[in-house]
Amino acid sequence: MTGIEAAGVANADNPAMTGPDRDFWEQRFMQRQTPWDRGAPSPQVLRWIASGAFAVGQRVAVPGCGSGHDVVEIARAGCDVVAIDYAEAATVLTRDRLATASVAAQVIHADVLQWQPDAPLDAVYEQTCWCALHPDHWSTYATQLRRWLRPGGRLLLLAMQCRRDGAGAGRIEGPPYHMDINAVRALLPHSDWQWTAPPYEHVPHPAGWHELAMAVERR
Ligand SMILES: C[S@@+](CC[C@H](N)C(=O)[O-])C[C@H]1O[C@@H](n2cnc3c(N)ncnc32)[C@H](O)[C@@H]1O
Repeated sequence: MTGIEAAGVANADNPAMTGPDRDFWEQRFMQRQTPWDRGAPSPQVLRWIASGAFAVGQRVAVPGCGSGHDVVEIARAGCDVVAIDYAEAATVLTRDRLATASVAAQVIHADVLQWQPDAPLDAVYEQTCWCALHPDHWSTYATQLRRWLRPGGRLLLLAMQCRRDGAGAGRIEGPPYHMDINAVRALLPHSDWQWTAPPYEHVPHPAGWHELAMAVERR
């Protein structure tokens, strides 16, 4: 995601909050500065679909859906998909992509830190929404993920690995913010989530970093 890093960016929605705000993301879409966008579905979503991780009829959320490549594929696999993004331009792109593909999904313009589904979900597909949030919001987001899912529901998580040298001096740099596995584990503890053992699938990212693909089950 080189080219969108904005360490210390102020949040105009709420000055008490840290990190990028709605306008930051809106501008990225308006200026077509979206280097995270593969221009195609993630290879991992295709692997998960092929492996049956998204069963027909499952209720699946895609938070921070961006331009919606993965939304189309999960909906095409027969899932009942709800895509959420608080950048209006992202929701427009996703709706257009769904219409072009003649595939149906619900697209919601909302903040993932506040949105709630009307019924518990079977799965959440998390592709670089978490790493777009400043770490100050990670605990709220982890609580949201747990609230959204039914017991036994799965979080299909692509955890962005983009550790920077500044971390050694305590700097928090991003987006994307590095998703250290220790932090992720602290926020999704074994007492509440069933983990499989590492190593996890290593998914190269176009920006030169990589993601770790993991399926974590809500207890
Ligand atoms: C790095 S992009 C990833 C987009 C998409 N998942 C992909 O991989 O192409 C992060 C997305 O999350 C959205 N986003 C960031 N913070 C959000 C929030 N608090 N609520 C809803 N969407 C958010 C941004 O608007 C953006 O579309």
